[in-house]
Amino acid sequence: MRPSLSFSCFLLIVALVQFIAFSSSSEQPSVLCHSDERRALMQFKESFIIDKHACSATSSSYPKVDSWDSQGVDCCSWDGVECDQMTGVVIGLDLSSGCLYGSINSSNSLFRLLHLQKLNLAFNDFNHSLIPSALGNLSMLTYLNLSSSVFSGQIPSEISKLYRLSSLDLSNNQEFNPFRRLLELKEPDLNNLIQNLTNLEKLHLSYVDMASPVPSVLANFSKLTSLYLEGCGLQGMFPSAIFQLPKLETIWLLHNHVLTGYLPEFSFSNNLKTLALWNTSFSGELPASIENLDSMEFLGLGHCNFTGLVPSTLGNLPNLKFLDLAINSFRGSVSPTLANLTKLDYLDLGSNYFTGFIPPELTNLTQLTDLDLQQNMLQGSVPSSLFRL
Ligand SMILES: *[C@@H]1O[C@H](CO)[C@@H](O)[C@H](O)[C@H]1NC(C)=O
Ligand SMILES: *[C@@H]1O[C@H](CO)[C@@H](O)[C@H](O)[C@H]1NC(C)=O
Ligand SMILES: *[C@@H]1O[C@H](CO)[C@@H](O)[C@H](O)[C@H]1NC(C)=O
Ligand SMILES: *[C@@H]1O[C@H](CO)[C@@H](O)[C@H](O)[C@H]1NC(C)=O
Ligand SMILES: *[C@@H]1O[C@H](CO)[C@@H](O)[C@H](O)[C@H]1NC(C)=O
Ligand SMILES: *[C@@H]1O[C@H](CO)[C@@H](O)[C@H](O)[C@H]1NC(C)=O
Ligand SMILES: *[C@@H]1O[C@H](CO)[C@@H](O)[C@H](O)[C@H]1NC(C)=O
Ligand SMILES: *[C@@H]1O[C@H](CO)[C@@H](O)[C@H](O)[C@H]1NC(C)=O
Repeated sequence: MRPSLSFSCFLLIVALVQFIAFSSSSEQPSVLCHSDERRALMQFKESFIIDKHACSATSSSYPKVDSWDSQGVDCCSWDGVECDQMTGVVIGLDLSSGCLYGSINSSNSLFRLLHLQKLNLAFNDFNHSLIPSALGNLSMLTYLNLSSSVFSGQIPSEISKLYRLSSLDLSNNQEFNPFRRLLELKEPDLNNLIQNLTNLEKLHLSYVDMASPVPSVLANFSKLTSLYLEGCGLQGMFPSAIFQLPKLETIWLLHNHVLTGYLPEFSFSNNLKTLALWNTSFSGELPASIENLDSMEFLGLGHCNFTGLVPSTLGNLPNLKFLDLAINSFRGSVSPTLANLTKLDYLDLGSNYFTGFIPPELTNLTQLTDLDLQQNMLQGSVPSSLFRL
């Protein structure tokens, strides 16, 4: 009996040891967050109040910091906090739509989180604070998002030192009733700010008051995928070389009514999906090579100063869903090739000088939900088949 009992004990112990070894190897080694960073996060939380009106910004808003608890040792598991799995330092903070309300300045404990790579504070209410210059000390940042968060004043030059940034979003810091842009980019200006930020993929600065031209250095930003500069008070000529950036998918410039520019010849290497120029002073003709933009989905050229004939090659954009040419000085007939744009759901040709008949082929546009042809010099009758769409 004795030997067999001790043998079974031995087996049991072996099994236990294997079980423990197996279960701990299958889990991530959990590294706890550093206590100084935990304190910095708690102090950050305490420097704001949670406010219902700051919550109303988006429907997905909720107070993420509510779950942060000074008794909870591992801040890496807190809502919105991301740590490096090996070292436990805080590398990401996403408190967007977090119902935070209050002022922030460079003394805030946030700026002790020196390893931060991603910071998203969008959709909160920072009570007209200046963007703290201490952000420039978070030199590891690759992602900075302060959109729709009630910051005001001049954007500090320190942001221009964050050369690792691939995404910078300071858009939509504005007030309504009466409408007012809160952020300014004058000294430094846009040119100074981005000079060294050559890793940028996303540059979103809509409704930052700039009153300046678009710097031509942007045409050297070969990684750029999206450029949003709506309502920035841009002036001068838009550098058309920007249209040729091979990775660029979105150019969004609407409501810059004194910004001039023209569309260049386009090549096959172009990846533009969205081009929005509504209410700018872009002028000239649409190049026939527009047909090379075969990724194009959204072409908003309304309320500009375009002239001439609409090239029939515009009908060769297989992915186009939205086409707005309204309020320009286009002339000639409405090309029947537009009927090849079978994915089109929005077509506005209103307020131009189009002549001739409405092509009955437009009936092929079965996805169409909006069609506007008003205020042209069209003749004949409206093809009755259009009403069956
Ligand atoms: C918001 O800013 C105003 C004016 O600077 C200040 O009086 C008020 O205390 C601030 N509110 C909060 C919650 O920080
Ligand atoms: C920064 O804000 C804190 C409150 O969060 C305040 O006590 C301090 O005086 C402010 N510092 C400056 C320089 O405004
Ligand atoms: C930012 O860095 C500068 C230079 O290293 C330093 O003088 C300043 O105190 C730092 N600011 C903060 C808020 O840490
Ligand atoms: C900034 O954050 C908001 C809210 O999370 C998001 O909608 C927006 O796309 C972000 N901007 C960028 C450039 O990622
Ligand atoms: C850009 O970087 C260069 C070289 O590091 C530096 O001399 C220049 O002052 C920087 N420009 C801006 C606007 O920060
Ligand atoms: C763009 O880059 C080229 C080559 O590096 C350089 O010669 C040119 O000056 C740059 N353009 C601007 C506007 O900085
Ligand atoms: C056009 O943009 C300007 C700002 O550049 C704005 O003041 C104006 O209201 C806009 N007009 C229309 C018709 O949207
Ligand atoms: C664009 O057209 C508007 C009127 O439609 C005109 O006031 C403005 O001067 C034109 N701009 C340019 C640059 O031609």
